[in-house]
Amino acid sequence: MEDRCDFINASADGLTEVPDQSVDVVTTRSVLIYVKDKQAVFKEFHRVLRHGGRFSIFEPINAYFPSSPDFFWNYDARPVAGLVQGCEQCTSEPSHERPTP
Ligand SMILES: C[S@@+](CC[C@H](N)C(=O)[O-])C[C@H]1O[C@@H](n2cnc3c(N)ncnc32)[C@H](O)[C@@H]1O
Repeated sequence: MEDRCDFINASADGLTEVPDQSVDVVTTRSVLIYVKDKQAVFKEFHRVLRHGGRFSIFEPINAYFPSSPDFFWNYDARPVAGLVQGCEQCTSEPSHERPTP
């Protein structure tokens, strides 16, 4: 595999070392969730990927409480409602406003 790949250290939204339409595959796993300017990243991916190249991404879906705080991945969370409420606060409030344990 190593002899078929080149490695550079760069941010996904600034692949300036990579020429236009020069790569066969763009693939990421659990990266885009951390990137603020996703539009810039997709623009770079589109720029460097050659015509007919492959594109494959995997991203987690961090929506643990999509419909009700009473259930967590189909488990009944009502007996630990206080913990659930704390988790929701931790993920929805800026870190300096998070409740301390
Ligand atoms: C949860 S890790 C995933 C690592 C690996 N892809 C995996 O699936 O095990 C998130 C990765 O995203 C990378 N990352 C975050 N922001 C990035 C950016 N703007 N450009 C490139 N990589 C970034 C981090 O360096 C880190 O390696």
